[in-house]
Amino acid sequence: MWKGAIEDAIRKIKQNIIKYPGKLPHITEGQRYEWGDNNDWIEGFYVGMMWLAYEYGQDSFYKEAAESYLTNFKERLDGHVALDHHDIGFLYSLSAVAQWRVTGSDAARITALQAADTLLARWRPRMGMIQAWGPADDPENGGRMIIDCLLNLPLLFWAHEQTGESKYYDIAMKHALQSQKFLVRGDGSSYHTFYFDITNGNALRGGTHQGYQDGSTWTRGQAWGIYGFALAYRYTKHEAFLDTAKRLARYFIERMAEDAVVYWDFDVPIDEGTPRDSSASAIAACGLLELLELMEDRDPDRMLFENALNRSMSALVEHYSTMDLPDAEGLLKHGSYHVRGDRAPDDYMIWGDYFYLEALVRLEQGIKGYWYES
Ligand code: GLY
Repeated sequence: MWKGAIEDAIRKIKQNIIKYPGKLPHITEGQRYEWGDNNDWIEGFYVGMMWLAYEYGQDSFYKEAAESYLTNFKERLDGHVALDHHDIGFLYSLSAVAQWRVTGSDAARITALQAADTLLARWRPRMGMIQAWGPADDPENGGRMIIDCLLNLPLLFWAHEQTGESKYYDIAMKHALQSQKFLVRGDGSSYHTFYFDITNGNALRGGTHQGYQDGSTWTRGQAWGIYGFALAYRYTKHEAFLDTAKRLARYFIERMAEDAVVYWDFDVPIDEGTPRDSSASAIAACGLLELLELMEDRDPDRMLFENALNRSMSALVEHYSTMDLPDAEGLLKHGSYHVRGDRAPDDYMIWGDYFYLEALVRLEQGIKGYWYES
């Protein structure tokens, strides 16, 4: 059923590889990715898509293309280029860890472990969290964590499996617990970010960066939470993470728009011009796939989650994909990056493309992403 969408996606990945050799996509401007160097938080998604394409069809074109980026990712780590943030997990899980998983490459494994150490250096023990952005003494961001970070934790869980060193596991576990305590609200909604006092570690307040307002629920943050807590449960078997992921999922599903794809924030006033975030729906679909695998067969939420997954993925394929645009660079229309900041409020998002393809190949062939233990 999903085959046509996968084949169209894989053809577009090839088109981009041929058109922009050695380059990496950045945030979009007018339905085109900006193609540049490895210096943002999102480059891993492009390489991750090449690995998914290779795993799906075994065409060595994609494997060779993905492998050609490893040196570049390693040099970025060595030079600490634009790595003053926590998204080292996104960057290196989908490039180096993926390469190691698919090919067993030692060089990829070493790079991925180096990345895990770089991420570990962002641990702030006084606050019990991995700092999201900026240097440790940053006055605004020094005490700030964000819900997106849950997707960076699998790199640490993986490093623990590889080395047996407990520091990776302990920090990932503590950060997940802190996220659960301060980012998830009682009704199953979430804060995008949370601040602590850097002088004494005290919890201060929830807030947002990309959402509508501080107390609102940014839909992509909620989607990161669904998938992130499900993965935290996969690695730790700490039951409360599964429960949290399910609560976040129910909140998300109950507030999906008529067509089963979300707007950019659950609390934003809706009119005909309100942007969607198709990338949030793609991430949530991956989270639901993960939950459906982890939860009991007789779990009362199973039917709700299965229906939501099928409705969302069908809507993405039929109404949001670029299957009608053979020359498009992106796979999913109507993602939003930063609506209030007027940065790509309605465009392709490379992570939307990645998670859309991840969900499709998992639905069609049971291929997983690169967040899992081997
Ligand atoms: N992790 C940043 C974002 O989702 O925009």
